[in-house]
Amino acid sequence: MLLMPSVLTNAYKSELDSRGLLAKAKAGTEKKEIHGGGSDDETLEHFAFRFAVSAGRVEFVALAPDEKLAEVSDAFMSTFSEGHVALLDIPCGTGSCLAAVLSTLFSLREAGVIPTQPLTISVMAGDCSPKALEVYWSTVSRLLPLLESQAISVQLRLQDWDATLGKDTARLLDSWFDMTAGAEEHVVCISNFNGALIGAGILDQFTPCLNQILSRLYDKKSTLLWVEPETKSAKTKLFPKIAEYLQKFIPWFASSAGVTVPMAASYQTKNPLNEFEHPSSVQVQKFNRT
Ligand SMILES: C[S@@+](CC[C@H](N)C(=O)[O-])C[C@H]1O[C@@H](n2cnc3c(N)ncnc32)[C@H](O)[C@@H]1O
Repeated sequence: MLLMPSVLTNAYKSELDSRGLLAKAKAGTEKKEIHGGGSDDETLEHFAFRFAVSAGRVEFVALAPDEKLAEVSDAFMSTFSEGHVALLDIPCGTGSCLAAVLSTLFSLREAGVIPTQPLTISVMAGDCSPKALEVYWSTVSRLLPLLESQAISVQLRLQDWDATLGKDTARLLDSWFDMTAGAEEHVVCISNFNGALIGAGILDQFTPCLNQILSRLYDKKSTLLWVEPETKSAKTKLFPKIAEYLQKFIPWFASSAGVTVPMAASYQTKNPLNEFEHPSSVQVQKFNRT
């Protein structure tokens, strides 16, 4: 049973409460297709009903209680153990990915499960929804002051970014690299983007921008971590297309050990707002600069 770290549950509840969304989020929804989006309403709907499950996927990948994901989890824990790490969080939505990374590391360090060594994370987060950037900043800011006690410091920048525009992507990367001189590793985390890429059909416009992101990492130790729910669409359309694209245009950014099929796992999780237990799933693919 995957539980949200209590430090994140508190921050999430406070943020929902401050926006008058807590009761609605606790009540839940029957609606299935919730992918966020450019409008304020779509963003707040995703924050109320999907933030926890999205954060849970990243937490599950980090912890890998399921042996199938052990390789990704080991790499994650090793990267975020100490030193200076650069993280590009796209499309960042309301912050579930970074919030899960920070709260998981905080909780493991606080419980003495992993060593508390100085760790700096320089985060660049981009999304096309201004409301998402606002909620991201506000939610993550609730966690930042607590991290100091576990020797974690975070530099955070947010930017309006349209994933289909090369110019926006160049600006995003310039701003990220401004912060990351001296970082030992650059990590690009793409999470829950299948709905827009396949569902809304923007994959072909995004791939040149993905090429730009990975090409700019040509001289850096770097990893691309792509996290999605275990949907048929991600499994049969998104991941095969991405693997094929990388092999063709950026072959030096290879999937780990030549594996082109994403790793996947299903698990039970508990909604931190109403204790409702339900199944969830994740599939993840890791590509490394070789
Ligand atoms: C399902 S949400 C995922 C957000 C976050 N990664 C998470 O896991 O919670 C999809 C996000 O993609 C963003 N998005 C959709 N189309 C986009 C585009 N063309 N450029 C940038 N972001 C986009 C939406 O605003 C939304 O925040």
